[in-house]
Amino acid sequence: MRRWWVISGFLAAVAVLATGVWSYGYRQALGQLAQRAEADLELASDRLTAQLQRYQETAVLLADHPALGNLGAETGRQQAQSLFLDVADKTSALEILYADTRGRVLASARGTLFSDISETGYFRRALHGALGSAHGVQHPLDLRAIYYAAPAFGTDGKVRGALVVAVDIAHLEWDWRGNTPAVFFTDVSGQVFISNRSELLWWRRPVGQPGLVPAKGPSLPFSAHRVGGYEIWQLDWGPYLPARALHMTRPLPVIGMTGEVLVDVAPARRIAGLQAAAVAAICLAFGAMLYLATERRRTLAEANKVLESRVAQRTRALTAANSALRREVAERQEAEAALKRAQAELVQAGKLSALGQMSAGISHELNQPLMAIRQFADNGTAFLARGNTGKATENLGRISDMAARMARIIKNLRAFARNESEPVSRVDLVQVIEAAVELTEARLREHAVTLDWNPGTVGPVLARGGEVRLTQVFVNLINNAVDAMMDQETRHIRIAIETGPRLLVRVQDCGPGLKEPEKVFEPFYSTKAVGSSEGMGLGLSISYGLVQSFGGNIRGSNTRGGAEFTVELDPWQEEAAA
Ligand SMILES: Nc1ncnc2c1ncn2[C@@H]1O[C@H](COP(=O)(O)OP(=O)(O)OP(=O)(O)O)[C@@H](O)[C@H]1O
Ligand SMILES: [Mg+2]
Repeated sequence: MRRWWVISGFLAAVAVLATGVWSYGYRQALGQLAQRAEADLELASDRLTAQLQRYQETAVLLADHPALGNLGAETGRQQAQSLFLDVADKTSALEILYADTRGRVLASARGTLFSDISETGYFRRALHGALGSAHGVQHPLDLRAIYYAAPAFGTDGKVRGALVVAVDIAHLEWDWRGNTPAVFFTDVSGQVFISNRSELLWWRRPVGQPGLVPAKGPSLPFSAHRVGGYEIWQLDWGPYLPARALHMTRPLPVIGMTGEVLVDVAPARRIAGLQAAAVAAICLAFGAMLYLATERRRTLAEANKVLESRVAQRTRALTAANSALRREVAERQEAEAALKRAQAELVQAGKLSALGQMSAGISHELNQPLMAIRQFADNGTAFLARGNTGKATENLGRISDMAARMARIIKNLRAFARNESEPVSRVDLVQVIEAAVELTEARLREHAVTLDWNPGTVGPVLARGGEVRLTQVFVNLINNAVDAMMDQETRHIRIAIETGPRLLVRVQDCGPGLKEPEKVFEPFYSTKAVGSSEGMGLGLSISYGLVQSFGGNIRGSNTRGGAEFTVELDPWQEEAAA
């Protein structure tokens, strides 16, 4: 709303300015026009005055001509007549005549126009010894004429007659019709007598009024006003007169008339209009530029505001999302920690399950040497009582061997039960398999399973892993193999290490093989009787997770003779570990 007020105010200011410029420019242009009009009017007036003066002088000169001295005689009259004709032809005068004091025409150039001029004013004035002049319409030719009457003096110094020269005005006008501005000459009564525009002839200016009205016929529209000291006429007088004209006058006392000129003001108005239009155009262009600039700035400011609010909105949304994310991360971390704990517990549970499977064998393994120790101790006591110290010493040595063997088994069990904390370290695969074999040895023996494992040929094989956890993996594999071969006569397990860019440990059995090799690593997948002590379906899935955590891999497949599990591990590299 405010914008429209500003725009209309600006337009109004431009309109006022343009009007001012127009008015100023118009006045300036009128000033120049007036100078030209004055010059034109001066030229026309001088010309007319000069022409009329010629006739005036002709009258004065001819009045003293000696040929006029003998007009009483016929020959004298003829002589004067021929002189007059000669002069009239040369000066283009309408008529030249001589009249005596009573006004009778004694001699004339054309002869027919005048007979008696006694009543005319110019003649009377000549009789008084002065130069008479008049203007009017010459009948019967209906011509506008100017008359000059010069007195002719006799030898006694008295006026004896008058010489009259009549001038045809139309003849004078003829020369200066054309494209000069409209010029006209009015007599003392205000009537147009001479003009270069025939439309203006005979118009009359009423006393006290600036304009002209027709002497006869309908009056035409006319009005006059002043602009900056100049008089402007507004008329509608046909195609040869301007509709709006600058009017100027110039008194001409020599010929008893007033010269007047009408100059078209259209060019002045055009110039003023052009100036006003140029100023208005510049102002409008400037205003438009200003408007565009402010509009642009405003649009930019608005866009900026929108952008800022959007940024603020986004920032709020982002902050909210960020805190939500942080919460989520914290939850994830908690969940991860819980998972890790659960996994560790699972591993431990898996271990306990394996221990459970092996417990019968292990207790047998511990029980048997215990019984033997007791037997050897009893025997030793008997040998000592008999004084056979050699046999007693041998029995004591056996007891010591048995105790050492029991200590090793317990040590392995304790190590197996330990909760390993470091992620990966240097592990000797041979020792790991050895420990697994020792742990399962009792069970293997219980079920008469033969084992093909020959570590002596290999020597230490260093791998990346965790000792206890790797032991757990192999204990699981051996236990599974024993379980698989339970229902058959021959029971055999083969364990072999292959070295290379990757270390491979193969555990093969001669059992029935895997029923669904692709499923064996899934948690809770078990073919063993549900509910019994064996068959949680977790052993292989735990093993899988452990091997993966060392950067290794475990695969299960069927061979011709049974199932084969391959554990693939990265060899230990000192530099990489450091
Ligand atoms: N050497 C193998 N020969 C044939 N089948 C096997 C062998 N090892 C594993 N399997 C099959 O894979 C299944 C999954 O073994 P996994 O050790 O994960 O669970 P489980 O031995 O059944 O129970 P858990 O080990 O938890 O006491 C076994 O139930 C068995 O069907
Ligand atoms: Mg198992």
